[in-house]
Amino acid sequence: MTATMSTPTVDDLPGIIDAVSSWQREGAPMQVHPGDLGWYERFGTEALARALRVWTWGRAQSRDQARSRSEQIAAVGFLDETELIRMAMDPELFDDDELASDIADDLVSRLDDLLPAGAGIVEARFGGALARVLAQRGWSDDEPWTPLHRDLARPVPPGALVIRVVGWELVEDRIRVEASAFPGASLSTERWHQMARGHAYRHGRCLAGYDERGSAVAATTIWSAGTRRPGIIEPLGVHQEHRGRGHGRAITLAAAEALRGMGASSAMVATPSSNVAAVAAYLSAGFESLGEATDLRRPASTMPSEPHATPGNAAPPTHVAPGRAPLAAHITPRE
Ligand SMILES: CC(C)(COP(=O)(O)OP(=O)(O)OC[C@H]1O[C@@H](n2cnc3c(N)ncnc32)[C@H](O)[C@@H]1OP(=O)(O)O)[C@@H](O)C(=O)NCCC(=O)NCCS
Repeated sequence: MTATMSTPTVDDLPGIIDAVSSWQREGAPMQVHPGDLGWYERFGTEALARALRVWTWGRAQSRDQARSRSEQIAAVGFLDETELIRMAMDPELFDDDELASDIADDLVSRLDDLLPAGAGIVEARFGGALARVLAQRGWSDDEPWTPLHRDLARPVPPGALVIRVVGWELVEDRIRVEASAFPGASLSTERWHQMARGHAYRHGRCLAGYDERGSAVAATTIWSAGTRRPGIIEPLGVHQEHRGRGHGRAITLAAAEALRGMGASSAMVATPSSNVAAVAAYLSAGFESLGEATDLRRPASTMPSEPHATPGNAAPPTHVAPGRAPLAAHITPRE
């Protein structure tokens, strides 16, 4: 069988998001979550569709077939930043060498413009055949990330903040905290509403944390992938003027408890290992580190194994992790 890569349409998004949700399994390695796609949807559904690449099984498979049978989706690539593609894959196919080889070919041929030699980065935290194939082809370790996990079998104790679920009336508080926590942040009122209308946000929720003076000092967005599946925190931040007072711990505890209330089996989050404060805050809120996972960088000498393709609908990557080339507003730490 051959895996075929395509750029989805807006109409395809619900099926793709549902497929990525179904791939979230307790105990499996962390991978791109529907919440990652949902957070990106603040830029609109069109932008999200342009940011995705979908690999489906089958020779000469028609788009209609792919659309109507989401179980045929084998893997999804998410162009989250300039020169970065973040991969999600059906866990049943993690060790499928044929699929991995087809994807690896596309990364250096059809996605050559988006993932240039020497600079293109692939996030494939699930490892498996794709990580093996890329390593065999000379891709090397890039930035280390720390995935963290908190089991939600038992209730999570509350922190000191008053927690409110953000609806339209609290959006400005949510945005103010985001803007302070992530300089150059991309969240706006319009974008919040675009995100909230998105398919993934059916299982998403924004929380704001208020201190004893009633000031919004912390905020987060949490995403369930459905009951008995791991949920994620993406993103989470404390207002710069209110750090070091336990608010990061408190909003993380609130995020975990809210995910528990949404039926998630665990709360997960990944942050660059260099973000020492974030790792410390998550550990302080009872998360356990799952060790480091490194992204993979394309070697300078990689030659496309297929003829160069016309660039597809290259998405406007929207935010940039430390050390990566910016295309839009530079955000450090990663929003
Ligand atoms: C990460 C962040 C949320 C922490 O918020 P905070 O309110 O300062 O954290 P807290 O005061 O609750 O501290 C929680 C723990 O982290 C530790 N910590 C906080 N900042 C730290 C730092 N810069 N270096 C080392 N440890 C730090 C605290 O000592 C505390 O540990 P303890 O409970 O074991 O004593 C905040 O720095 C932030 O918003 N950063 C920018 C956004 C970001 O990176 N978000 C995470 C990725 S999405």
